[in-house]
Parts: sequence; structure tokens; C-alpha cells
Amino acid sequence: MMTKIRAAITGVGGYVPDYVLTNEELSKMVDTSDEWIMTRIGIKERRILKGEGKATSDMGAEAVKQLLAKTNTLPEEVDMLICGVVTPDMLFPATANIIADKTNIRNAFGFDMNAGCSSFLFALNTAAKFVESGSHKKVVVVGADKMSSIVDYTDRATCPIFGDGAAAVMLEPVSGEDGIIDAMLHSDGIGRVHLHQKAGGSLQPPTHHTIEARQHYIYQEGQPVFKWAVSKMADVSVEMMQRHELTADSLAWLVPHQANMRIIEATAQRMGLSREKVMINIQRYGNTTSATLPLCLWEWESQLKKGDNIILAAFGAGFTWGSLYLRWAYDGDKI
Ligand code: UT7
Repeated sequence: MMTKIRAAITGVGGYVPDYVLTNEELSKMVDTSDEWIMTRIGIKERRILKGEGKATSDMGAEAVKQLLAKTNTLPEEVDMLICGVVTPDMLFPATANIIADKTNIRNAFGFDMNAGCSSFLFALNTAAKFVESGSHKKVVVVGADKMSSIVDYTDRATCPIFGDGAAAVMLEPVSGEDGIIDAMLHSDGIGRVHLHQKAGGSLQPPTHHTIEARQHYIYQEGQPVFKWAVSKMADVSVEMMQRHELTADSLAWLVPHQANMRIIEATAQRMGLSREKVMINIQRYGNTTSATLPLCLWEWESQLKKGDNIILAAFGAGFTWGSLYLRWAYDGDKI
């Protein structure tokens, strides 16, 4: 009998830049306060990538180097690399190609995937299909974003939210019960009016006017995004639990996108999960967009055990959202 090949995460690497942007420093830049940010969003500080010539790919490359070292993988063994990203180094070529170059990965094909804050989730599930088909054996999935490159630090409604970071996972075929089991992914372009960057694309190429009008930054209408995020992320996570008869007891972890503490809490509550089962690092990193989910896995890796039932959930610009169910494939840290 043929056993089904699943794709399992076999290692995690991560990188956050050194510079810490605190609520105190932000309060000197815009009219805000630590109290407002902590109550409405739940962020204490975020990391910022400083330095001339430093881009998303530099963080992604650091995460991939660590991943290769931790999984004892030679660069030439990697046969595919997907990068989830909304702040690519350049509009083209793909940041995936730049990361591969910087990490000496030369036998892989790769591309970027932009699904807003759901980019990593969509990229992970796409990569899993290549592994499950048997065509690819060592696939690197990166989530990396330099959000500070598109944040307007005069706009108090968006600048406290975002931070920079990158993390990456290795996907490999396994024949047992572990690995990625199911994903439910959704998009609805009707939501694009509430969260986007107005200029810099083919609709509005850069001009003096677009720069003066500050259109090369994140535009967000917070409240509709919040409402959609709370309902869609919770719905799709609860649906995943029901589809696989998972309970608050049998589920080991929820890995939620880190956009707002209140969205995370509402999702966990709908799933009946206690706070101890939810990975939360928004206080320290803010919303790193494509990097939130793998950065959580990176930080919690030492606590994870083979067979742990884990649900990843995200919501982002597009709108895009989804949940992914996997059984973790190894015990503790890979050093
Ligand atoms: O990852 C992609 C998905 N993105 C998200 O999930 C973000 C979803 N949205 C949110 O998380 C929230 O909507 C925000 C955190 C963006 C905003 O929180 P909110 O509770 O929806 O606040 P609001 O926009 O309704 O603003 C409430 C008040 C306003 O003042 P008035 O009009 O009531 O006088 C704002 O001007 O808070 C004011 N405000 C601030 N005050 C101090 C907005 N930003 C700030 C600030 N400091 N930084």
C-alpha cells in the first residue's frame, strides 16, 4: 500500500535586527503614549533594520543561514525556496532569488509570494504541495519583511504597529503521521480598499506628486481591518478544529498572526484556548507581517514536541486569511 507523503517542518531559523524602537521613542515622534499603544494594540517595542544598503533579503539570508546550520543542510541540497514578503528589496527580481544568492543556494528554483500578512501561510502551503508530490525534497520557506521601509513615521495610527524581522523553515517529506495535514486559505479582493500602498506600482508609478502626497506608505483604515480580522481568523481556526475534531485539550498550540493583542485574544477565546497555549511575541516585535508566524515557531521551538497538534492562523491585506493544521515532527531545539 502506498503511504501518503506529508511535508513536515524539520527546522526553524530566525533573525531580528538589534535596534529596539520603544513606545517611549515613538511618543517623541508622534502624539501617542505607551498606555494607548499597550491598551489598543499590545506592543511594547519593535525591531528596526538600520543601515544604508540593508534590506529585507539581508534579514531573510540571516534566517536561512541559521536554518541551514541547524538542520545540517548544505546550500546545494536545497531544491526550492519561496519567500513570503510584502516589502521586497526591489519590485523585481524576487527577494527569494536575492536570499538564495546571499546564502549560496544555487540548485533551487524560487519566487516571492505576496498575500499581505498571510504571505507565510500561503507560501508554506504552496511549498507543502511540492513536497507532497514527491518532486521536491528540501524546501525552504522564508517570511521576511522590512516594514519600516513603508511605515509613515508621522502617522500615529500605523507607525506603532509594525516592526522588521525574518524567519525560515525547512520542509521535508515524511511518511508517518506528522507534518502538514490541512489548510484552509481564503482571499477577498473587496477588502483591498481598507489596506494597501497607493503608489509605487503600475497603477501609480512614483512621481513627485505621489511622494509629496505620502502615497508610498501603508494606508490602513484600522477599524474595518480589525473587524474582518477578528471574525475571519477566528472562524477559519474554529472550522479547522471542527473538521479534525480537535479540542482545546488536544490542540497543543495556536500560532496566530501578531497584528493586535485584541485580535489574538478574541481568536483564542473563540477556540476555547487558554493563554498558555497561544504563542504571543507581539509585545517585543510588533507586526512583522510575513515573519510573525515563523518567528513564533523559532522562539517556541525548544518547547515543541513531536506529535504536537498546532494550528497556524493569519489575516492580512487583500484581504487574505486562513488556517493551517500540522503535527510537529521533532522534539525541542535543533542547535
Ligand atoms: O496585519 C494586517 C492586519 N492589520 C490589522 O489587523 C490591524 C487591525 N486594526 C487595529 O489593530 C486597530 O484598528 C488599530 C490598532 C489600527 C487602531 O485601534 P482602534 O482601537 O481601532 O483605534 P481607532 O482607529 O478607532 O482610533 C481611536 C482613537 C482616535 O481618536 P478619536 O477620533 O477617538 O479622538 C484616534 O485618532 O485613537 C486615536 N489614535 C491614537 N491615539 C494615541 C489613533 N492612533 C493613536 C495613537 N496614539 N498611536
